[in-house]
Amino acid sequence: MNKHVSLVIVGLVLFGTIRLSAFAQKVPPNTDEAKVGDYVLPELLRCGSGQTVNKVDAWRKIRRPEILDAFSAQVYGRTPKIPVHLRAEVTATCTNAVGGLATRTLITLHLFNDPDAPKIQLMLYVPNAARKPVPVFLGLNYFGLASVEADPTLPLTEQWMRDDKTKGIINHRATEATRGSHATRWPLELALRRGYGVATYYYGDLEPDHAEGWRAGLRGYLQKQAGRTEAAPDEWGAIGVWAWGLSRAMDYLATNPAVDAKRVVVFGHSRHGKTALWAGAQDERFAAVISNNSGESGAALARRDFGETIADSVRAFGFWYCENYRRYAGHAAELPVDQHMLLALSAPRPLYVASATEDLWADPRGEFLSAVHAAPAYRLFGLEGLGTSEMPPPEHPVGQRIGYHLRTGKHDITAYDWEQYLNFADRELKLNHKVK
Ligand code: GCU
Repeated sequence: MNKHVSLVIVGLVLFGTIRLSAFAQKVPPNTDEAKVGDYVLPELLRCGSGQTVNKVDAWRKIRRPEILDAFSAQVYGRTPKIPVHLRAEVTATCTNAVGGLATRTLITLHLFNDPDAPKIQLMLYVPNAARKPVPVFLGLNYFGLASVEADPTLPLTEQWMRDDKTKGIINHRATEATRGSHATRWPLELALRRGYGVATYYYGDLEPDHAEGWRAGLRGYLQKQAGRTEAAPDEWGAIGVWAWGLSRAMDYLATNPAVDAKRVVVFGHSRHGKTALWAGAQDERFAAVISNNSGESGAALARRDFGETIADSVRAFGFWYCENYRRYAGHAAELPVDQHMLLALSAPRPLYVASATEDLWADPRGEFLSAVHAAPAYRLFGLEGLGTSEMPPPEHPVGQRIGYHLRTGKHDITAYDWEQYLNFADRELKLNHKVK
């Protein structure tokens, strides 16, 4: 072998090993602001061609699709076009749910003409006081329908769940102790009294949240149907599947006359926050998008080395993303996008990002800065984004078309967070808003 060729091979092997070790080696997260280091974000409005867009039309036709494509190819994977035969079957109706405040409907969303195919069990609360179609907050839940509200008549979701004794999840199944165990995250009364409906389903309905979960979920189902055994490097991961499910729930909500389909807000906490952002980016029927403590690969800037990194995320949860994303473990600067660009895909719709003071893993400042850097897309529409580049103190919500707050406390979604989202929705979800 020629000396040159062998040198190149040695170089390639070495390079590969270094990349691999960045992926495999767990380094303690940086939580020291002084050690963040410099980084340069990809320019939001600068197209692949080098041209900078300064008009809505060019944003919509060129730059937005480019960014969407980059997130599809490199981060979450491409969402396939799946022929869906949606059939909604109402399985239970309770007209005096939440102390008589709401009518609660359980709806099975059959997605395919196949009883064995994955389905969504949606739960929808509509305030009984409503005199017209209501705006709805749509979000995934972590431990099944019964975890949302302590009502003995709610069925326990039977799907696989991540074990959590504090939520009564034993041997990966919900138990009687699961009832109401996440009720603090679902302050239904608050939302209902303010005239909002709430819709949720268990995210594991379409893919259980573990590395092999895809086999039992939608991805496995589709692969079997197509007679395939391999997945492409840009094929979707679990977040893509969960986001796709939110759009199917939207399909249904759009058919329900009690729902104001022009005011469906997609929201989520943590991994569900990442999912909500991705769902909102792809599906513009969502009137507003809310990310609560979504962190790495959600709202937080990837290039800012603080808290969780891409390497951490793909090491623990590689199956959430497409295979290509692994390349960026330890190499965030090579990613053609950063997360402010994901936020910008919500423009001109109202967007809210929230952080918590003790949630350093999610990098609160990185989430805030991401919202700051998403603003140029909003400005194209003649809208002010956050309207500030100074991070506010805790419990001081800021912003205009983009909202932001930092809450005192832990990684969680609380009544305080909900109150800010409801205030924001009241303010920003007026129909016929002025768009240049
Ligand atoms: C882990 C993960 C985060 C994620 C979080 C959650 O901490 O590293 O990226 O947001 O779980 O979903 O609770």
